[in-house]
Amino acid sequence: MNPVKLAEGIYWVGAVDWDTRFFHGHTFSTHHGTTYNAYLIIDEKVTLVDTVFPPFAEEMLERIKQIIDPQKIDYVVANHVEMDHSGSLPKILSLAPKAKLICNVRCKEGLLKHYFTNWDFQLVKTGDKLSLGKRTLSFLETPMLHWPDSMWTYLIEDEILLCNDALGQHYASSERFDDEIEECTIMHAAAKYYANILMLFGSIAVKKIGETQKLGWKIRMAAPAHGLIWKNPQSIIDAYFHWEKGEAKDRVVIAFDSMYGATEKMALAIAEGIKKEKVEVDIYKLPISDKHDVIAEVLEAKGLLVGSSTVNNDYLPDIPAFLVNLRGLKPKNKIGGAFGSFGWSGGAVKNIENMLQEMKIEIFEPGISVKYVPTEEELNKCFEFGRRFAQRIKGAGST
Ligand code: FEO
Repeated sequence: MNPVKLAEGIYWVGAVDWDTRFFHGHTFSTHHGTTYNAYLIIDEKVTLVDTVFPPFAEEMLERIKQIIDPQKIDYVVANHVEMDHSGSLPKILSLAPKAKLICNVRCKEGLLKHYFTNWDFQLVKTGDKLSLGKRTLSFLETPMLHWPDSMWTYLIEDEILLCNDALGQHYASSERFDDEIEECTIMHAAAKYYANILMLFGSIAVKKIGETQKLGWKIRMAAPAHGLIWKNPQSIIDAYFHWEKGEAKDRVVIAFDSMYGATEKMALAIAEGIKKEKVEVDIYKLPISDKHDVIAEVLEAKGLLVGSSTVNNDYLPDIPAFLVNLRGLKPKNKIGGAFGSFGWSGGAVKNIENMLQEMKIEIFEPGISVKYVPTEEELNKCFEFGRRFAQRIKGAGST
């Protein structure tokens, strides 16, 4: 329950949610839980930046109380309306009756429509400064990163960026800083978070990072609202630029479903062909795979092959569940293809191709279909399909 010091007078006072396994409804699986990060600044004006999801309000208060009586809070900054960050505002503002609520105009609108309470709002916009005494806060509105109200707060003297949902990870741990865990662990969590939440808004994220430079903000530390705090923010900033450009590895993700195993045989034969070309390949049977993990794998792969048996002239139902999720996230620079077995009419392969094209994934060649169970000859054709796909992947721009 201890607060954690980021710098002199600046503390993490958030909460660790070890138990949650889903976020945003069921649109994000959180195998490692998450954290809700709130930050307390002790200066002439005592300031709390963001709060926590309501079930964790007491945990946050316990941490605050170890540093200061919550009644002494002068400002509460709300960077974002979403309830995982604003949900404990009613509690904290009831305990800190003199506190002003600092936010932008869209955030005020959203908070009023969530909590129906006309708190003592003080509106800020990009570039505004708020003196706390020795320290100064400044603000950058970041609309649609990922809600219209989103905002970043910057501690000018300490060069700490409180970047709310951006640069976050859903990762519960007893550590608070990036240099306290393995780099591959935090980058994997950050990639899954980006792929499933921010991929659609990647261009806004890099534009806003660019705007911090125009504002003269040097980022010594980046403290997001979820997960670990970046003492080395350049690593995650570089990753965001890389992901936003759609840069990926010579790697293929095969995602499929198979009714009686024929499409699965095709998937395995295609994978053999891809491997023959020395391109990395991973296979996911969608009904037994976590789709949000698969989407994270797609982020780092140049190629995506999707396979399904045909049922009722269409694909099996786990295929659109995956593709609709991916379509909304608008992956960039992917090359794709389709495959599947059928009994009489077919339809799955064409419909998969249509879905891939809708999300602007380049179809490398018409998909491969097999009637009923593939023969040796047909499996050889799948193998060659895999080889040609891998060659196309190797020919595409690489990182
Ligand atoms: Fe972590 Fe958009 O809330």
